Amino acid sequence: MPCFDPFKPTLPQDYERLAENFGIERITEDMRKKLPDSYLFRRNIVFAHRDLGRILSVREQGKPFAVMTGIKPSNEFHVGSKLVADQMKVFQDMGADVFFAVADIETYHVKRQSLERSREVALDNITDLLALGIKEDAYFYFQSSQPKVKLLGHLYARDVTNNMLRAVYGEQQIGYYVSALVQVGDILLPEEPEFGGPKPVVVPVGLDQDPHIRLTRDIAGKHGLVVPSSTYNRFMRSLTGSDKMSKSEPAGMISLSESPESAGKKVMRAFTGGKPTVAEQKKEGADPQICPVYDLLLYLEQDDNVVKRRFEECVSGKIMCGECKKDVAERVKKFLEAHQEKRDKKRDVAKQIVEKVSKDCP
Ligand code: TRP
Ligand code: SF4
Repeated sequence: MPCFDPFKPTLPQDYERLAENFGIERITEDMRKKLPDSYLFRRNIVFAHRDLGRILSVREQGKPFAVMTGIKPSNEFHVGSKLVADQMKVFQDMGADVFFAVADIETYHVKRQSLERSREVALDNITDLLALGIKEDAYFYFQSSQPKVKLLGHLYARDVTNNMLRAVYGEQQIGYYVSALVQVGDILLPEEPEFGGPKPVVVPVGLDQDPHIRLTRDIAGKHGLVVPSSTYNRFMRSLTGSDKMSKSEPAGMISLSESPESAGKKVMRAFTGGKPTVAEQKKEGADPQICPVYDLLLYLEQDDNVVKRRFEECVSGKIMCGECKKDVAERVKKFLEAHQEKRDKKRDVAKQIVEKVSKDCP
């Protein structure tokens, strides 16, 4: 019988272990009270942090702080990318200045993708961000055309050894290390005087980015900057059952711009936490904890009661996977229809933003 209930402050064991190994901290009940009421915290989707307390206290004092993150423009946004955007919005609503790095230098090195292609994909990604409620006046930039960010990458390199970079990426081409340094520049950019720094910055990311966070915190400390904070979201599982929804596995991913029909079909074909036979499932119940269909509900459904009820129906064997999938497919379709309507309205603004930030530097 699964022991994980998303509304209780426990986590799947693998996350508990990960958090422990990385030395990051769980979000406490006390912190949760000071945070806006968001499904991300209520459902333990954002489950851990470093120094989030600093952000909460400057906010209480009415002092400025920033939220910053970066995206690799290698493909369309998917349900997992939405988690990071929703986190950004939480801090935006708390009064943070919002910074978005389009990591085209990283994508060039790590994905071997041209800067031109990144520009095209970034337009699509920024359209999604605006449709998800990020304000137009957020500071969007391309790594390749933001001069200061590249300068910072160079300057902070003074304090970075080979070993530190290997700890982030393993043994790799120099391009990876260049990207790691530019990412340090990204995270510390809001601390520059022209942006009103030094000031606290919070970086919402997936747990895979923690090595970058550690590297940057180390460097910030050496330069008398405010050591950046971070928050960590769980990963959206791939619909095929593998660990993480990712752009490299299309059948397992629901893109925010794909047709609702195609997304519905993917849900119907998805891996589940169900039992091999109906009889077994009726008797023993199924396991939402390993089920990507349940994840979709957890991440996209607004109403907590719907999620709670499904959890109970699933573990008690009251619902079978076929019926459950049909219901979730309908909800996913509705979400996509509404989201895509918002996307249409934001396309022109997104285009203007991309044109403007491309010109920041020749
Ligand atoms: N490395 C991140 C990724 O692979 C993208 C990124 C670039 C980023 N710069 C950043 C994330 C700054 C957080 C902060 O997705
Ligand atoms: Fe997943 Fe639904 Fe089946 Fe439970 S009933 S395992 S949530 S598909």
